[in-house]
Formats: sequence, C-alpha cells, structure tokens
Amino acid sequence: MNILVLGSGGREHTFAYKIAQSELCDKLFVAPGNAGTANIATNVPISVTDFPAIKEFVLKENIEMVVVGPEDPLVQGISDFFAEDSDLKEITVIGPSKEGARLEGSKEYAKEFLFRHNIPTAAYQSFTAETVKEGKNFLETLNAPYVLKADGLAAGKGVLILQNIDEAKAELENMLTNKKFGTASEKVVIEEFLDGIELSVFVLTDGKNYLTLPTAKDYKRIGEGDTGLNTGGMGAISPVPFADDVFMTKIENQILKPTVDGLAKENIDYKGFIFIGLIKVGDEPKVIEYNVRMGDPETEAVLPRVKTDLVKLFKHVGNQTLDEVKIELDERSATTVMTVSGGYPEAYEKGKEITGIDDITDSIVFQAGTKLEDGKIVTNGGRVIAVTSFDDDFREALKKSYKNIEKLQFDKMYYRKDLGFDL
Ligand code: AMP
Ligand code: GLY
Repeated sequence: MNILVLGSGGREHTFAYKIAQSELCDKLFVAPGNAGTANIATNVPISVTDFPAIKEFVLKENIEMVVVGPEDPLVQGISDFFAEDSDLKEITVIGPSKEGARLEGSKEYAKEFLFRHNIPTAAYQSFTAETVKEGKNFLETLNAPYVLKADGLAAGKGVLILQNIDEAKAELENMLTNKKFGTASEKVVIEEFLDGIELSVFVLTDGKNYLTLPTAKDYKRIGEGDTGLNTGGMGAISPVPFADDVFMTKIENQILKPTVDGLAKENIDYKGFIFIGLIKVGDEPKVIEYNVRMGDPETEAVLPRVKTDLVKLFKHVGNQTLDEVKIELDERSATTVMTVSGGYPEAYEKGKEITGIDDITDSIVFQAGTKLEDGKIVTNGGRVIAVTSFDDDFREALKKSYKNIEKLQFDKMYYRKDLGFDL
C-alpha cells in the first residue's frame, strides 16, 4: 500500500525508516519531510495542518494509510476530517480523534480523565481569569515548589515550576489576566509537586486493545546536569534501567489498562500512540501528562527496538485487531543523542552545511531540522540530527553515539555529553 507520514522531524524520519523496511509498503511519502526522509521516501511540500491539500494528495496518490507525527493536526481534528469524508473514510489514520487528542490539548481535560478513571496523578485544581483570587488562595494551601500549567498547547513551554509563593501568584496572574501563553493560558491547572525520577511509557492502541512499546527517558534541558532552558529533547535512552518488571506491572495495571479501558468506556475513538509521561514517586508511578503521539527524540530510541513490521501493527490498529499480534523487541539498549544549532532553544541560525553523515556506519542517523539546498544538506531547525546506537549496555551504546557524533560537523553544533548521568 501507499503510505503518507505527516511531519518533518527526527520522529518522522524514524517512522519513514521503519515503514520503508516493510514489505507491505509500496510508495512512501512524507509531508513536508526533511533531507533525511528525502533519501528513503518522496517529500511533499504540504503543511501538516492543510487538510484540504492533504486530501487532494491522498486521493491523487492512492494513499491507504496516514501516519500522523505531531500533535497539531490531531488536536485540529485530522482523524475526524478523514472519518467524516466519504472519499477518505476507508483510509487508516494512525492518530486519535479530536476528542482523544484533548488528552494532550487540554491539561484540565487530561486531569479530569485521570481522576474519573482512578489513575494515579498529582492533586490539582483549575482556575480562570474570573477565579484568580481563588487560585492564589489555593496556592497558599500548597507547599513549594508550585506547579502552574497552561491548559492548552503552548509549544512545550506552558509549565512553570516556581520556588516562591509570591512569584507563583504573580505568574498565575500573568497567565490568566495577561494571557502569558495567549489563549492556551485562559485556564491554568495548579498541581501538587511530585518529587521523583521521570520516565515515559508508550502504547499503541486500537481503542480497545493495546501493545506496550519500550520505555524511554528523555533529557529535556539544554544544559548538562539537567540545567538551563527546556528544549524539545536532547536525547533519549531506551529501556529505562529502573523500570523493572515489578514497576512495569504497576504501570500496566494502574495506568495503561485503565487509560485504554477509559477511552473505550467513554466511546472515544482512539487509534494511535499514547505517550504517557510518568514520575516514580517512591516506588509508585504517577501520571504527569498524556501526549497523543510519539515523543521526539524518544521515537528515535524506541522504534528501532521494535522488530515487528510497523505497517503490520498499524493495519491491526486500523482493523481494531491489535489483540491478534504480538510485538517483538530488540532486547538491547538504544540511545539517541541530538545535535542542535548553537543558540537553541533561543534564537539560532539556519542554513549551515552539515558534513560527515555518510561517515557514520555503526549508528543510525535520523535527521530532524535539515533540508537539501543546491545538493548540500544544511541545517533548517533547532534540533538537527539524532544519532542512535545499540548495545547490551546503554553506557556502551552512548559511547558509540558520542564517537559517531564527532564525525558530524556544522557551524556552532552543540550536544549534551552527559546523557544517562542520572541513571
Ligand atoms: P508537562 O508539559 O506536563 O510534561 O510538564 C513539563 C515538565 O514539568 C515535566 O516533564 C516535569 O519535569 C515537570 N512537571 C510537570 N508536572 C509536575 C508535577 N506535578 N510535579 C513535578 N514536576 C512536574
Ligand atoms: N520529547 C518530548 C516530546 O516529544 O514531547
């Protein structure tokens, strides 16, 4: 079948890499893609949220499956757009309905869902511009640090963690009254602070059944030792060494099952990935957030470990027969290290020539912010190239990624050299 992947990051290059290996895939397209996807698929210059243009392309190229990478088209309802169109409704879309995508699109919606289904998570209350005063009173009842979350999508920047109560009150006012994050912060969720170590768990679900994918830990801060500004992610390690069988069984019973059962009970159409951000408090897992897609760069470490044909799994998702397949995993560790443009996550330059990609032979190179310009590969984003390596020991895998990253060159290239420092 012909398949279209939507997105342009390292995550989408990884999807394309796995899908291109499938015997079930005839023609593969990526919209808009990057210089990496151009090597294994056909890039199409269409925006991931231009639904009419996507429709026209899908019909023209006889696409039978659409794999949605980022959250924006999901939150805007691309799955419903396909399901409700008589020309498109037979096409399998990997990605939840608009209602399902609210798990990521609204923090309050996610918290209400978690509480309805008795899934462990931090205590919370939500507030609007009309209830700023009540919000400040609620802050008084909590201990520092204070966690404030813009309800809507804020490009990963909508969560503030503040040490000081006056600062927390001022930021609450800023978010609600002065719309610090625009419409995303018209509502703010204030949460109990959870102290522990974070990990992410991924599932692929058809809305009734699910398969658990490998766990991963990502490194969000720009600076070594987890310091400095938040980024999209500077690297990932899979599996997470402390997620042993006992802990995973708790996650399965307390979080994964009730989440998928909850979606089914509420008749929420959900065919796609759920990326669950967790924190281990003592020995107990608690949910920090839901994402309705795969993570980036977690995908670059997680998907290469999946040995089962990805397109076959997606077909079972489409038919709601995921209970009929087993997932086979590579037991080795995979680590991915992200190289970024100097200055990222603040202002950075683009258009720098990248060399050395072809010299890397014993790691996998996944391109993110890259494009082709006059036959050269140049930087085109903050996160530029991810280097994924395997080994029985994650520390050895990391060494391989670091050795190979040294072969890459572009002006002001930066990467974190301390991944795994906390494990
Ligand atoms: P989120 O966008 O919800 O993933 O939040 C961003 C980051 O803030 C998370 O990855 C955590 O590091 C941190 N965080 C969010 N909620 C809490 C919480 N209740 N307690 C402690 N840290 C949190
Ligand atoms: N790496 C975090 C995310 O994809 O949201």
